[in-house]
Amino acid sequence: TRVAALISGRGSNMAALLAAAAAPAYPAEIALVLSNRADAAGLATAAARGVPTAVVESRAFGRDRAGFEAAMQAVLDRHDIGILALAGFMRVLTEGFVARWDGRMINIHPSLLPAFPGLDTHARALAAGVRLHGCTVHLVSAGVDEGPILAQAAVPVLPGDDEATLAARVLAEEHRLYPAALAWLAAGRVAVAGGVARVDGVVG
Ligand code: GRF
Repeated sequence: TRVAALISGRGSNMAALLAAAAAPAYPAEIALVLSNRADAAGLATAAARGVPTAVVESRAFGRDRAGFEAAMQAVLDRHDIGILALAGFMRVLTEGFVARWDGRMINIHPSLLPAFPGLDTHARALAAGVRLHGCTVHLVSAGVDEGPILAQAAVPVLPGDDEATLAARVLAEEHRLYPAALAWLAAGRVAVAGGVARVDGVVG
């Protein structure tokens, strides 16, 4: 399966997907890295690994989200993409785009959803005093950071943690979790019923 990783910034999760997909047995190929920002650092990372990159500047479209998405879709079509992996992609997508990629678009979010959707998850987890925090890979549905959950990884919140130390602990898990979840989807092991995802061969 030809996968596009969609990024807006650093791209460390995208890099983790590239590293995993380099293994011959991995069931997906990262065939494109697409950014909505020309200054995304991840573009250079991808290019250095020989992966095709593209930029569709969301800013150029202003409030015309459908226009931005049509431009993205044209690029995705050109590269014959079958799955989208959002990896720090900071744009909210329209219902139409989400429907078009239903069951074929995943996202990684730095919290144990449904806790802490949205931004600043690590600061909010610290403020809430939770003892467990983590990350979630989910299929993308119309609501932001909603959609059937494919995988989660938990980390402890430790005394003395600040946003940076907690974020780093979660990020290490993101880099492990995202390649695994993408592989399940690409291998056709994910089924959704009643808004809940089941992964064939994974207990739980
Ligand atoms: C990650 O924490 C991801 O979960 C969130 O944004 C961050 C992106 O980091 N959606 P990177 O660009 O993958 O390094």
